[in-house]
Parts: sequence; structure tokens; C-alpha cells
Amino acid sequence: MALRVVVAISGGIAAYKVPLLIRMLKKNNCEVKVVVTKNALEFVTIPTLQTLSQNPVYSEMFSEKSSQFTEHISLADWADVFIVAPATANVIGKYANGIADDCLTTSLLAFDKIVCMAPAMNTKMYHNPVVQANLKKLQSLGVNVILPENGELACGVVGDGRMAEPETIFQFVDSLIKNNKPLKGKKICITAGPTYEQIDAVRFIGNYSSGRMGFELAKVFAQKGAEVSLITGPTQQVIENENVKRYDVKSAAQMYEKTVEIFETSDIAILSAAVADYTPKSTFDNKLKKKYDNLVVELVPTKDILAELGRRKKEHQTLVGFALETDNELENAKDKLQRKNLDFIVLNSLNDKGAGFNVPTNKVSILDAKGNIYESGLKSKYEIALDISEKILG
Ligand code: CTP
Repeated sequence: MALRVVVAISGGIAAYKVPLLIRMLKKNNCEVKVVVTKNALEFVTIPTLQTLSQNPVYSEMFSEKSSQFTEHISLADWADVFIVAPATANVIGKYANGIADDCLTTSLLAFDKIVCMAPAMNTKMYHNPVVQANLKKLQSLGVNVILPENGELACGVVGDGRMAEPETIFQFVDSLIKNNKPLKGKKICITAGPTYEQIDAVRFIGNYSSGRMGFELAKVFAQKGAEVSLITGPTQQVIENENVKRYDVKSAAQMYEKTVEIFETSDIAILSAAVADYTPKSTFDNKLKKKYDNLVVELVPTKDILAELGRRKKEHQTLVGFALETDNELENAKDKLQRKNLDFIVLNSLNDKGAGFNVPTNKVSILDAKGNIYESGLKSKYEIALDISEKILG
């Protein structure tokens, strides 16, 4: 799949060089979308950017032409990388302080993957302690700053502040992406979502799992270059990534079959699915009629997929389980980790607000077999997935 890049242009004279960067990205098989500030359009024109990127240019939050007012979110979801070039002192300051007042800054703030910024401004502005503090803050938050060069600036002054050349920006992003694929060639098996245990033709026993945590994990591991098999119960979630192969299953028994099969050739398995622990002993092919005074559905245990993988696990394989506990959380999680022969267990607590089922955020503790515990704090499930991947990869 082509890398999806948003080129975000703010209003500095260096904007005139950015069409060259867009051409380089396109020549190297990237898909490019461009977002501009109003001031950027004093230096570059929409037809140029549109022609080179082969996509409409995003410029206004509330234009009559845009089909919806949430385009900034879809742009952020679409992209793998954001390159802000040139990044003016104004845009750097806004981003560092969480200000979103136009299409560029709003989509940037809604973006949670790789951000690169190429500052460009007058030397005195660049060395202003406020600008430097903003850049340091952004770097500490994981933003990649492509340092400006020393040279003659548009104002005639010679000094720091000239935007890095388009070629340098391209090389920087290119090597960042290449180095960002530490899992190339690795196979990851992930389970997600609930399972549905059939009672009759129209009824089942299920649970509130949305599948989101497992899908975010699949996204993160695929972005790191792994080949992901995602085995999911019924869910509304979608994923479009050529590194992810999706297997849809319904029941715990179907999930068991597929997961055990795929684990055989996997390097890492992460079981985040909320698998039913019990299933009806017998199911009815027709719809049950309302004719019973007292209807008892007898339940029998399902097979524990995680425990089975723990038994089959080989030296080179890493096995990660999830635990959802309501009391004695840490003790129960540690016990599960040992009993099921896991390398890591991710503990969700139902007692935490904003964590667990059917919410976009989560708060977890990640425990390893050596007794280390990492507390994530409340974050988006994408960020939790990043944390989990970092702990597993060491
Ligand atoms: N799990 C599984 N197969 C099952 C049940 C659970 O693979 N039949 C996995 C889940 O995907 C999760 C982990 O086991 O990774 C923990 O599930 P949980 O229900 O919290 O733990 P149990 O071992 O079932 O113990 P208990 O319900 O008694 O807490």
C-alpha cells in the first residue's frame, strides 16, 4: 500500500519550494494530500498543489465546497505521516499549545501518527526562547523536527532559519519510515471483538466488546511492518491495510479453530478478544416459540484459546493476554499470566472511568513475566496499542 502523506503548508516564503517536495513524494509512490493555511496561499496556488498531488487541496474549515465539516478528522485518519513545511513560528506555537483554529491546525491536532516539521523563519524569530521552547516541547512529545539550515534568508539576513531543502525533508521522512518498520517479516496474530454464542436461529449470548482495542493493535503492528492476522468476532470496526489479513468469526469455537491454526506460524499472539466463557450446550436451528413456563438454557464451558496457546507456545513465540478484573486486579492478573504461560498480560480495570468496553479510551497496566508493571494512564486506544507494542518489542 502506498504511504499516505499529508503535506501541511503554512504561510512562509519557503512555501514556494514545497511543490518540489510533493513531486518527490509522488515520484516515490506516496499518496499525497495537501492542507494549507490562508497565508500559505499568498505564496503557492491551489491549482499547482492540486495538479501535483492529484487531490483536492484542503484549505478552509467551512467552505461551501466541502461536503462535510469533519474533513479535518477524515484527513487525519487517512494519513500515515504529516509533514508541516514550512512550519512557521505561528503554527509551531499553536501546535505546541493545542490550538486548532483552521483546517491545518485542526487536522494536525486530530492526527496521532508520525509528524515531521520543517521550521522556516527569520533568524531572530527562530532563536527566540519562546519558539525554541515550543520546538523542544514538541520534540519531547515525539514530533520530528527537521532543523532549518543556515544561509541567506528571504529578508537578506544570513543565519539559521532557512527551511531544509525539499530533498533533505524527503530523505528524512523516507529514512524515518524505513526505520519505523522494525517488524518487517514478523507475523502477528491478534484476536478482537466479542463472540456470539448461538441460542436459536435469532438469539445469541454476546458481550459489549466493540473490537476497537484489537483493531488499533492491528493498525499499530501493521504500521511497524508486521504481517498481521486479525481474527475478529462480530464488530462494526473496519481496517484497510494491506499488511492486515482479517478473518471474521462468530463463536468462541470458530475463534479457537482459526487462532490455534494461525498461532502455529506466528511470532507474537495478542489475544484481546472478549471470548465467551460459556456457550449453550445445544442450539436450536429454528426460532424458539414462547411456549415454555420455565426455559433453562444449559451452558457449557468454551475452550480457553489463550491457555491452549500457552501450552503450545515455543521458545521464539511471545504470547500476550488481556484480563478484565473487578477485584484483586493485580493479583488475579499475575496469577493468569503464570497459569496461562504468558509473556505479558494487559490488565483493564472495569473500575476506571473511560476504560474497558465500548469507549474510545482505555487505561491499562501491562505486566510482564519478570514482575515489571507499567501503568499507561488514560489514553486513546491507539496510544495504548502503541504502548503495548513498545513493551512487547522491549
Ligand atoms: N480468552 C480466550 N479464550 C476464552 C476466554 C478468554 O482466549 N475462552 C482470553 C481473552 O482473549 C483474554 C484472556 O483470555 O486475553 C482473559 O480472559 P478473562 O475472561 O479475563 O479470563 P479467564 O481466564 O476467562 O478467567 P476469569 O473469567 O475467571 O477471570
